Amino acid sequence: MKDKIIIDKISFSYINHNKEVKVFDKFSLILNNGEVTFLTGKNGSGKTTLTKLIMGIIKPTSGSIKLFGSDTSDMNLGQIGQIIGYVFQYPERQLFAPSVMEQLIFPLTFKGVSKEEAVEKAEEMIKLFQLTKVRNSYPYFLSYGEKRRLALASVLMSNPKYLILDEPTTSLDKERILVLSEVLNSLKAKKIGMLIVSHNNDFIKSHGDRIIELGGDL
Ligand SMILES: Nc1ncnc2c1ncn2[C@@H]1O[C@H](COP(=O)(O)OP(=O)(O)OP(=O)(O)O)[C@@H](O)[C@H]1O
Ligand SMILES: [Mg+2]
Repeated sequence: MKDKIIIDKISFSYINHNKEVKVFDKFSLILNNGEVTFLTGKNGSGKTTLTKLIMGIIKPTSGSIKLFGSDTSDMNLGQIGQIIGYVFQYPERQLFAPSVMEQLIFPLTFKGVSKEEAVEKAEEMIKLFQLTKVRNSYPYFLSYGEKRRLALASVLMSNPKYLILDEPTTSLDKERILVLSEVLNSLKAKKIGMLIVSHNNDFIKSHGDRIIELGGDL
């Protein structure tokens, strides 16, 4: 219980032009912390929707989601975000600060960590994710690959217990995918579990403990 994410018989539909689009019907899945689970499936199969349900951004119409023993229906977005680091499929949506450095230190200074300590950690992230050139830039103007690396770096600043990455290799070049792979390996060594949405077979092969394919028409 305490080391699992338990998705229990959830149902979810979007309403599109007054029509119900059913994405999940009594769907269940157990994710183990310390394990890397890949989520695949064709476009529109519900991968991003599942990640948003786990993060509490949208709510299931029935069923429950438990994060390491706590029910998400009793938690707010901030509480879920403290436990699970989430990088969006379109990471520019989570970048809001006026500079790369401020984007990185915000999650820590917000929690009351001293600016000095936050900057020290941010410097490590900037180095690790090769963001030195853009450290003072406005995140909006970064390239897609830089935005994606910044989004992951800012999520890692708060030492999440579990990570959800939606298509993390998109817009990264080969060299940056290698850096990402090394970062994921080091997180895995620290027993941090991950749910990764991906279609990149090489990436899946080198990291995945488990592959879940969403699909099938409802
Ligand atoms: N905000 C929304 N309003 C209405 N329908 C939506 C919304 N978001 C997604 N959908 C629909 O729900 C279904 C699942 O979408 P989702 O984004 O979860 O798919 P996905 O597996 O992540 O696809 P992709 O591989 O293209 O990223 C799709 O049919 C999509 O059109
Ligand atoms: Mg998606």
